Formats: sequence, C-alpha cells, structure tokens
Amino acid sequence: MRTITWNSDLSVGIDEIDAEHQVLIKYLNDMFVACSVGQGPAVLSKTLCWMQRYSREHFAHEEDLMHKLGYPGIDEHRQLHVELVSDLDDLIDELENGVSHDLSNKTMQLLEDWLLQHILVEDKKIGRYIGAID
Ligand SMILES: [Fe+2]
Ligand SMILES: [Fe+2]
Repeated sequence: MRTITWNSDLSVGIDEIDAEHQVLIKYLNDMFVACSVGQGPAVLSKTLCWMQRYSREHFAHEEDLMHKLGYPGIDEHRQLHVELVSDLDDLIDELENGVSHDLSNKTMQLLEDWLLQHILVEDKKIGRYIGAID
C-alpha cells in the first residue's frame, strides 16, 4: 500500500510548520489507505473537505509567519496558496458529481503532487531564508 512517510527531507526547519505538514500528510495517507481497501469513493469527499479546511488555516498561519519574518517572496507564495485552495475546490466539485475509482486515483496523484511539491520547493524557501535548513 502506498503511503507517504515523514522524513527529514520534508522538514522546512520550522517545528510548527512541520507539525502542520504532518497533519496534511496524515489526511493524504488516510485517503491512500481508504483507496487501497476499496473505500476511496466513500471516504474521499469527506476527507478532502477536512483537508481543505485545515489547509486554509495552515496557509494563513504560514502567511502570518512570512509577514513577521519579512520574507521577500510572500506575495508569490500567497498566490500559490490561492491556487492550491482553488485546485482543492475544483477537486471537491468534481467528486460531488460522483466518485469512480479512476477519479479516486487521479485525485490521489494530484494531491500528492500538490502537497509534496509545495512543501519541498516553496515552503522550504522560508526555512532557508531564516537559515533553519541548508
Ligand atoms: Fe506554503
Ligand atoms: Fe505549507
């Protein structure tokens, strides 16, 4: 079964942000588990709604932190958050029209790319900016 294991490569060097990323990854892993036992369609919509709510809180928290740190890339980063929330909205809309196993698989791939790419590329820049990671 496919799941994402937290490791130091995913750390942005800021404990509170890492803790929130771990919660988001847990939502993703819960959905991987559900899909692997044929429960994807039943679980996906509900978990995505939780994930969406948590993501909004997490993004607001990150933006607040960037503001306090005087992070120079804040506007671009904030715009990426807007796009991520919009992607989640689109996924939720699509799932409301009926969830097939194909759509479950597509959703999981999108979410994995969505979450991991943003953490590894964009969120890590904040940690680097404050010298918390290399
Ligand atoms: Fe971010
Ligand atoms: Fe983040």
